[in-house]
Parts: sequence; structure tokens; C-alpha cells
Amino acid sequence: MGEFVKRVFSGIQPSGKIHLGNYLGAIQKYVKLQQDDSFETVYCVVDMHAITVAQDPKILRERTLEVTAAYLAAGVSPEKSIIFNQSRVSQHAELGWIFNCIARLGWMNRMTQFKDKAGKNSERMSLGLLAYPSLMAADILAYNATHVPVGDDQKQHLELCRDIAQKFNNDYAEQIKALGFGDQFFCLTEPMIKFGGAPVRVMNLRDGTKKMSSSAESDMTRINMNDDSDTLAKKLKKAKTDADAIPSELAGLEGRPEAKNLIEIYAALNNSDSQTVLNQFGGNQFRAFKSALIELAVATIGPIGDEMNHLMKDEAHIDQVLKDGADKARIIAEPIVQDVKRIVGFMV
Ligand code: TRP
Repeated sequence: MGEFVKRVFSGIQPSGKIHLGNYLGAIQKYVKLQQDDSFETVYCVVDMHAITVAQDPKILRERTLEVTAAYLAAGVSPEKSIIFNQSRVSQHAELGWIFNCIARLGWMNRMTQFKDKAGKNSERMSLGLLAYPSLMAADILAYNATHVPVGDDQKQHLELCRDIAQKFNNDYAEQIKALGFGDQFFCLTEPMIKFGGAPVRVMNLRDGTKKMSSSAESDMTRINMNDDSDTLAKKLKKAKTDADAIPSELAGLEGRPEAKNLIEIYAALNNSDSQTVLNQFGGNQFRAFKSALIELAVATIGPIGDEMNHLMKDEAHIDQVLKDGADKARIIAEPIVQDVKRIVGFMV
């Protein structure tokens, strides 16, 4: 990808409580990538994606501030990274429309996330929910982002982003060349799913076969980033385990999803890996391990939660961070989307 600037783009929806899955799957990676000076890092709060399912406007606003507070509290720095909310940069919507005309209906109908969310009610879902991956491709490609750190549930959406980029490059090849952009206008973005040693998926504390999720009805199934120490302790103490001892080898975690999840969470919070955790705790009962896990969670997530709650008291400050970020984001996205308009034949 020689000719493209190394640029990272990622985003989180402000559609529920922000939890440990968001932290380990995304935010922790954002912070690590920001420390690598060879990357430009752009982190978004994707409020336009959130309204693909109904949102209470007051709560949407609150959640947008909360996701931003989580970024800041975890160490994403507005000096090193661009932090903004999607709807403030109109290029996302403009490019999203153009991509709606590139992507095929058949591609959208194959998306497993749509099928999971729509279930048997697909006729009653919003058109936006079906077109969701096309807007996501626009988020990424409005910056020609080369790398996207996400959890593995987003893999199919990133493949679709590459399909859109490829089809655009092909469909408009002649015009792209004529305007002096060479053979490729859009880059083919790389997903970063395993980056940073985080678990591929953080699972529900009460059912290790389900993903930890902000939409799960019970708050006991997840760790919210701003849970206080007592809540962290209570949730981890009550987290489901099984009757066996902790194994010494990774193979011993097979078929034990709850055990595997807690070991992986420990490893990720400790910047370590599962085998190292098993070396330390193998042979122990879960009781002893859970005490160590609670201590670790309180020491790592605890201060982030405290800082989030502190930041949330000054909404004007958070909003200013988002506004300044949007101004910087526009500087990158505006010329790219302007070029796209010229390529497709719009009068600009
Ligand atoms: N779909 C992503 C999720 O639910 C959020 C998202 C929207 C995103 N646009 C993006 C992630 C662009 C990475 C890049 O997790």
C-alpha cells in the first residue's frame, strides 16, 4: 500500500453503556496505535450508525458524551489523535450515499449482523440498518484509512468495505486515471483484529457463549467501563464458572467458555497471554483466581471509570474536544470526498 498514508480509523456506536468488550476490543488498541508515530489515528463516535435502530434523543446525546469520555479517560489523546462525532462531518453522509449506489443489494442481504439484528422482522427494520455497512465503508474511506482496529464481529463489514473500494476503483477506472490518481483511488483497508493481544471476543459474564453486549437486559452480564470498585467486585464474584479447577494448559479451557473468558480478560488486563495466566493459576479453584481478577480489574478499569465520571461533569469540555476533532477530520475528508465527486461526474 505504498502510496497511501498509514492511517487508522475506528469508531464505536453510542447506543448503550460502554463496556469491557469495547475497551479490550477497541479502545485499548486505539491507545496503543496512537503511540506508534508512523500512524495517523482517527477515532469516531458513530452517532449516525446508532440511529439505524430507534434512539431516545436525550440518551443518544448522553451516550455520545460517555463514549467520548471513555476514549479520553482510557488515554486517547486529542493532541495525538482526532476524536469526533460522525454527524458533525457531513462527508460521511455524502460518501455514504455514493457508496449506496456502488454496493449491491445482494451484498447487504448477506451481512450476518443485519440478519441477527433483524431476525424475522427484516421488513420492519429501517433502510438505514440494511445500508449500515455502506456508511461504515464511507467512514473509513472518507479518510482512505489503511488500518481499522475492530473486534472480529466486524470482519464481514470490513470485507464489504474492500469490495466497495474495489468496485469503485474498477467502475471509475478510466476517470480515476484521467484525473491523475493512477490505478487505485481507494485503498484496500486492512482489518486489525488480533492486534495487541486482546481476546478476540469478550463474552457475557453469565453465559460464555454470548458476546458481552450493551443490549443484554441484565447489567450483571457485563462490566461497564464506569462501574465503581464495589460493582466490579460484585459482578466478577457472581460471574459464572464451572466446578473444575483452573487448568494448566490452554487445551483444558476447551468446552469451558466461561472459564476461558475470565482467563482471557485477566490476560488482556494484565498485558499478558492466557498461557501465562494458566502458568500462574493452574490447579487453583476459581475462588482464589476471582479475587486476583477483581484486584486487577479494580486497579486497571477502576481509575478509567473514575476519570470518566469526573469528565462527564463537564459536558462543555467534552463537546469542545468533539468540535475541534471534527474540524481536523474535515481537513482530511473534505478533499477526498471532493475528488470522489469529480470522479463520479458531479459538478463541484
Ligand atoms: N460497526 C462498528 C461496530 O459496531 C462501528 C463502526 C462504524 C466502525 N463505523 C466504523 C468501526 C468504521 C470501525 C470503522 O463496532
